[in-house]
Amino acid sequence: MFSGKKILLGVTGSIAAYKAILLVRLLIKAGAEVKVIQTPSSRDFVSSLTFSTLSKNKVLTDLFDEASWSNHVMLGRWADVMIIAPASCNTLSKMAGGQCDNLLLAVYLSATCPVIVAPAMDEDMWRHPATQFNLSKISSYGNIVLPVNKGELASGLIGDGRMAEPEDIIRCLQNFFSYGNQLKGEIALVNAGPTHEAIDPVRFISNHSSGKMGIAIAEELAKKGASVTLVLGPSSIPVSGNINTIKVTSAEEMYNTCVGYIPHASIIIMAAAVADYTPLTIGKEKIKKADDTLVLDLKKTKDILKEAGKIKKTGQTLVGFALETNNEKINAQKKLVEKNVDMIVLNTHNDKNAAFKSGINKITIFDKRGNEYNFEAKPKKEVARDIINTIIQYRNV
Ligand code: CTP
Repeated sequence: MFSGKKILLGVTGSIAAYKAILLVRLLIKAGAEVKVIQTPSSRDFVSSLTFSTLSKNKVLTDLFDEASWSNHVMLGRWADVMIIAPASCNTLSKMAGGQCDNLLLAVYLSATCPVIVAPAMDEDMWRHPATQFNLSKISSYGNIVLPVNKGELASGLIGDGRMAEPEDIIRCLQNFFSYGNQLKGEIALVNAGPTHEAIDPVRFISNHSSGKMGIAIAEELAKKGASVTLVLGPSSIPVSGNINTIKVTSAEEMYNTCVGYIPHASIIIMAAAVADYTPLTIGKEKIKKADDTLVLDLKKTKDILKEAGKIKKTGQTLVGFALETNNEKINAQKKLVEKNVDMIVLNTHNDKNAAFKSGINKITIFDKRGNEYNFEAKPKKEVARDIINTIIQYRNV
């Protein structure tokens, strides 16, 4: 089942560490290569000898001993996935804050592979707002956080906080590996965010785009195994996952950067809210206040999506967005044809739940084969999943 897969298991100080023993056995039985990292306090619960015997690999605990230094960077690169099970309250807090006082945390912070976290603790600790805050931070970094189970806890109380069973973790890994293979070998280009068009050294023209939608698309592509380049306009949203992010400012910079990547990409998704016009000239000095009105001369920017449509080759799937406030369907379908794209994602600006800076979006996708796909208003991460699944379906036909 996991033949050839390299799995790094991090074990922290929790009574649930005994379940990690069974997890190692199941992983080895399924053909995986397993390396175990223990935090010092986890050795009070399970000895390293148990893990090294079962994993057939030396267990790593310290960043360095007298003789050698553990290369935490290479460990994170060696693994296809890192699982932290059990993840204690203390380790979760350090992961959320970026602390690094043991080998497990150093590997976590430098890991380029996806990380799955299985928390374990007593119910009161689980429910504490600080723990929930840490968990939401850890998820926001792109890690997969498994739910806890309800049942008998170490305290003797019954409640939430039990670590996911080893069999649940195996199931999650199965899904993860099949999910992560769907776009393996594909090269994706995404652009996102607004652009800033300078008026003078201190002012610019822009729009309300946050970049959230395009970033979620790039992250979803990476999760499904694509090699992703994201050309990102000015945005404060963090990008997680293994994504080659190139920051740009103006429409021209975005155009020049994208055009360089388009020929090499198999999936191209242009989600950026590129400015349509830019000042004809940029004031060298700050424009001083003078008359009651000020006229700015603007010139059209280059249309990146249209250019991509012109140079598109067989095998490339080109996807554009259409933000419309009226005649939505007609305008979106017009863009589909005029820009020679395979698919256009209509972003409804009229839905009360879906707004530029909100986390919610309501989309309809039209493809050039005449299909129309309608979706409910939902969080942008889910919308990204819908878009990518529709693209996969389109490419498979
Ligand atoms: N687009 C682009 N380059 C531009 C303008 C837009 O690549 N200079 C792309 C957007 O990224 C999006 C699509 O074109 O994928 C449609 O953008 P939208 O703003 O909806 O439409 P426009 O083509 O700009 O036309 P209009 O503003 O008149 O609706």
